[in-house]
Amino acid sequence: MDLYEYQARDLFEKYEVPVLAGLIADTPEEARAAAEKIGGVVVVKAQVKTGGRGKAGGVKVAKTPDEAYEAAKAILGLDIKGHVVKRVMVAAGARIDKEYYFSVLLDRANRAYLSLCSVEGGMEIEELAVERPEALARVSVDPLTGIDKQKAVEIAEAAGFAPELVDKVSDVFVKLYSVYKGEDATLVEVNPLVLTEDGEIIALDGKVTLDENADFRHAGHALLEDKDAADPLEAKAKENDLNYVKLDGQVGVIGNGAGLVMSTLDVVAYAGENHGGVKPANFLDIGGGASAEVMAAGLDVILGDPQVKSVFVNVFGGITACDAVAKGIVGALAELGSTATKPLVVRLDGNKVDEGRAILRDANHPLVTLAETMDEGADKAAELANA
Ligand SMILES: Nc1ncnc2c1ncn2[C@@H]1O[C@H](COP(=O)(O)OP(=O)(O)O)[C@@H](O)[C@H]1O
Ligand SMILES: [Mg+2]
Repeated sequence: MDLYEYQARDLFEKYEVPVLAGLIADTPEEARAAAEKIGGVVVVKAQVKTGGRGKAGGVKVAKTPDEAYEAAKAILGLDIKGHVVKRVMVAAGARIDKEYYFSVLLDRANRAYLSLCSVEGGMEIEELAVERPEALARVSVDPLTGIDKQKAVEIAEAAGFAPELVDKVSDVFVKLYSVYKGEDATLVEVNPLVLTEDGEIIALDGKVTLDENADFRHAGHALLEDKDAADPLEAKAKENDLNYVKLDGQVGVIGNGAGLVMSTLDVVAYAGENHGGVKPANFLDIGGGASAEVMAAGLDVILGDPQVKSVFVNVFGGITACDAVAKGIVGALAELGSTATKPLVVRLDGNKVDEGRAILRDANHPLVTLAETMDEGADKAAELANA
């Protein structure tokens, strides 16, 4: 999960990373009040989960509360790379002497963390990385030892910080690493990290990505989630602990086991070529225990997608045998009642397949069609989606 800048700022503050005052505002009036509260020159900043806000007109200096009002008015509603600004942060203005870049991230390929750092930070960092990669220090970080003071000094020196600054910036790197570790982040990035005219080192912009696999360790992370922005179907699936990803097609897919679901998507896409180019509408793995409740929750999510025209249930009975799955489907349809309106193609195979098919045949639900094989099921579901 990516955080907004203001959320990153708040986390930084918690770990004693030097930051400036910052208050959020959803209206120009709130921005004016925030500027009054902070006092002096402020910067009004669009809160969207994308970079390059400065270049897109999403970061404006305001010398008075009225200017902050005007800046917020101009920024709220702005479209920055497809993200519409609904909130701004009013931050104290820094008097910047130099802009640096620092990040620490998960380096999967090397089973380590990686720190990137440059004394040439600011808005052009992507260009810098491409045009003059030598200006961006890359220092591997052992996850067992992390960024301690010694490592932080190594990073600062590799980036080419002046000797008199090394001690000061390396202290900040250690604190930023404590955010990364303490919050189970996969990315902590500061651009720019600035040296002010008074000689202070301050994190002026922060980007933090949290590892959702570690959410169970962080009760507070759920509060950081942006319920508004999340896809409502994905949110509903998450509430039910379902592994769901919305795609762009018309054939809803339910399967058990990530591998089977992935191959089902391929087979449906392939079958769709013969039926008007219909495509899979989602990835949904209901996992091992395909009980009636789980099946109902899965169907409920998929049927809630207005793009879905048919559903293909492709289950391989294992520990949860086909008869249990079939009962799950029948139970789910009963539970959903008249909200279930789209045709369902069911292919069962594996443990207790005959019993499972018999249960579905006996139930004789008008929406359900049985298929013998995966190819046949995909073809039928694609045909129904195209009808
Ligand atoms: N609080 C601040 N005070 C002074 N200047 C700022 C402040 N915040 C940002 N800036 C300036 O605006 C630039 C862009 O802001 P930043 O927060 O990095 O947004 P983005 O990376 O999305 O463009 C910074 O490089 C910095 O020069
Ligand atoms: Mg930035």
